Amino acid sequence: MNINYDYIEEYIRSILKGGYGELSRLRDYANNNNIPIISPEVEQFIRILLKVSDAKNILELGTAIGYSALIMAEAANPDAKITTIEVRDDMYEMAKENISANKYSKRIRLIKGDAKEVVPKLNERYDFVFLDAAKGHYLGFFKDCIKKLNYGGIVVSDNVLYRGMVAKDELINKRDKTIVRRMRNYLDYISNLDGYITSVIPLCDGVALTYKEG
Ligand SMILES: C[S@@+](CC[C@H](N)C(=O)[O-])C[C@H]1O[C@@H](n2cnc3c(N)ncnc32)[C@H](O)[C@@H]1O
Repeated sequence: MNINYDYIEEYIRSILKGGYGELSRLRDYANNNNIPIISPEVEQFIRILLKVSDAKNILELGTAIGYSALIMAEAANPDAKITTIEVRDDMYEMAKENISANKYSKRIRLIKGDAKEVVPKLNERYDFVFLDAAKGHYLGFFKDCIKKLNYGGIVVSDNVLYRGMVAKDELINKRDKTIVRRMRNYLDYISNLDGYITSVIPLCDGVALTYKEG
């Protein structure tokens, strides 16, 4: 179930169609193999955020096949670097192949591992974090990531409304109860955190934008 009217989403996608350049093959592959990647409208939103923020050091949690990492490499400042973390062996191998075959490969560092263990060990600071790994663990990921986030930096969290379940009890499936409870805690935490401003946007499956003041 989508959180927006289907006709609105279909209309927005119809005007974006054809805009994915050489990465369209990867989007098709993901769609045909049920691999969840960013929606076309979230993709455009991230492109604009990267341009407006001029982020130079980017961190992504949840690489899958490397699609969003490549999109970010294409959209960001030509000097920007991207570190992306993936826990699953099969996804990591596909991402490695897709990234190494791409002209932006030198700017992307792909790390295999659980973001919960990898992020605390990173010794760089970031301007932009894209949170797109296990949805039930966003709060832990966020707390680790903001320790590495520069002032003026942003965290973008995808799927935060979780097919609308986060906003309405009647929509919750039994098996998603824990994720929904955790996502509500997460949104409550980031929306009321001193020194940060958060906006929850009902774009696609819900996107939260958190800005670190200072
Ligand atoms: C929604 S997909 C990422 C899609 C990708 N960002 C894109 O838009 O092209 C989520 C990915 O996060 C990975 N993942 C889940 N939990 C993780 C964790 N704890 N650490 C690293 N990766 C994780 C999953 O294996 C999956 O490939």
